Amino acid sequence: MKTIQDKFDTSESILQTLKEFNSNGINLLVKRDDLIHEFVSGNKWRKLKYSLLQAQSKGKSGILTFGGAFSNHLVATASACHALNFKSIGFVRGNELSPDSNKTLKKCHELGMHLVFLDRETYLMRNDYDYLNELRNEFPDHFIVPEGGANFYGIIGCQEIWNEIPQKIDHLFVSQGTTTTSCGLLLGLPENTTLNVIPALKGFDSLSEMKKLLKNTLFEEDLIEDLMQKVVVHSDFHFGGYGKYAEELLDFMNDVKLKYGIPLDHVYTGKAFFAMMKEIQKPAYKNQTIVFLHTGGLQGNL
Ligand SMILES: Cc1ncc(COP(=O)(O)O)c(C=O)c1O
Repeated sequence: MKTIQDKFDTSESILQTLKEFNSNGINLLVKRDDLIHEFVSGNKWRKLKYSLLQAQSKGKSGILTFGGAFSNHLVATASACHALNFKSIGFVRGNELSPDSNKTLKKCHELGMHLVFLDRETYLMRNDYDYLNELRNEFPDHFIVPEGGANFYGIIGCQEIWNEIPQKIDHLFVSQGTTTTSCGLLLGLPENTTLNVIPALKGFDSLSEMKKLLKNTLFEEDLIEDLMQKVVVHSDFHFGGYGKYAEELLDFMNDVKLKYGIPLDHVYTGKAFFAMMKEIQKPAYKNQTIVFLHTGGLQGNL
């Protein structure tokens, strides 16, 4: 029988060299985590793996988690739990919604996730200590995973990506939502590599959010301050805000698909790839080795 660790095969995630990219002497590579699985794709397996292992070792029979109406994390959790014979409960933001509201929620429902629709005020309590304790009492056989998989286990799962990037690289570019992926990458960042983050949200304070998550997951403050020196934030690529987009972005995504065979989504990876392509035109990137981490998200595509 397959164990949790080998159920989702990260060897599917190749490090693709973009040979067609010919500019500034740059060696451009894409770490294709989108190829891990159709739904447990991109950063999702990285973020869920240790929560699932922890749930199993605590003798739990399911996962309870939180997400918005189009959440990649919810559908990934539903899919992973389905594959592992775990139960799953999804607490969804918006009590006007139903399992039929969109294809993400439909898929969660089909995969056996029990969906609970919360009004926005209750949803705001999703990280509240007392509220979570109430849920632990109500659902004692479920392991609770925060929205977006943003816990200690998510961070260490994302740190493991470095085991699959064998060469010396100068820059890594990655999209940012909860910052779990970027925090994990930061903890394992090789010396002389810069971590470039592209927030999907408008007005998002990337550095403060990363510090907050690392602090909440009990990493030391001195270590956090040192690590932050290696992060560069590119905050002008949200295209108006979370989930918003422009024709220019969709055209760009189409071009990337045609030229390199890489599908992108309009919420996270499309914007991050766009930002990277603009940024690396600068002379400072001449002759550098650059990796883009493809974090998946393709289930939510337009
Ligand atoms: C496709 C995709 N890319 C990037 C991110 C951002 O990752 P994180 O929330 O770990 O910062 C998300 C959200 O989890 C996502 O769904």
